[in-house]
Amino acid sequence: MTAAVIDGKAFAAEVRGKVAAGVAGLVAKGITPGLAVVLVGEDPASQVYVRSKGRMTVEVGMNSFEHKLDASVGQAELLALIAALNADPAVHGILVQLPLPGHLEEAAVINAIDPAKDVDGFHISNVGLLATGQKAMVPCTPLGCLMLLRARLGDLSGLNAVVVGRSNIVGKPMAQLLLGDSCTVTIAHSRTKDLKALCKGADILVAAVGRPEMITADYVKPGATVIDVGINRIERDGKQKLVGDVDYASAAEVAGAITPVPGGVGPMTIACLLANTLTACCRANG
Ligand code: GUN
Repeated sequence: MTAAVIDGKAFAAEVRGKVAAGVAGLVAKGITPGLAVVLVGEDPASQVYVRSKGRMTVEVGMNSFEHKLDASVGQAELLALIAALNADPAVHGILVQLPLPGHLEEAAVINAIDPAKDVDGFHISNVGLLATGQKAMVPCTPLGCLMLLRARLGDLSGLNAVVVGRSNIVGKPMAQLLLGDSCTVTIAHSRTKDLKALCKGADILVAAVGRPEMITADYVKPGATVIDVGINRIERDGKQKLVGDVDYASAAEVAGAITPVPGGVGPMTIACLLANTLTACCRANG
């Protein structure tokens, strides 16, 4: 069997088109949604993400506010910036790019963001709202994965889903979303026993471990839908290459459908960020 390729790039372009139409409607009423992105330090991968976020924000007609701070910035100065962004009516969404340098307290920074402007869905209030099935800002990467799964499979109820990875950004909210869609959900991680056998029982397999090409064909149930969240830069044959957490070539021989890297989950993350910013702006304006 050769898996169908889930084209996240095309799907994300559709989502951005719908967001742009929503933005145009607001602009006609004199309201322009604004997204503020805070980048601390010079991490090259983060710089790339922030640049493409800024470009796409402008492309859908929103205002993009970028705040680049020195890696040595103190906690108090960062919190003061967040307080100013919380109070700024032109800013509807705030994103603090993670990871932060080690001397900053990540949880305190995230929880200082106004939950209504927390377009990443990382604030403890949004985490709690999601976990209790209430209206929340939902983290962008898992939301993008859920949209791809629904588009591919329709009703997810009763399906066995295994999420490999337990991060606050992807693994845990992904599990909550799948549970919300009535999947039977297992969260696996580095201490899980017999991971291969567990994964092989999954109708939906979400890989978010950050280990290049770890999930090979022998982790995949025939016909399963495989969602690869990994973005790993590796060197192969003397060349830089971007690969996922799934060994695409072998897994695609067994899976029913699979997301490629690049062009799968990645573009959906930014599209969902823009959708969340539009939602935050609509809520702020009644
Ligand atoms: N770093 C890696 N992914 C993300 C994300 O979705 N949001 C933020 N703020 N930082 C990240």
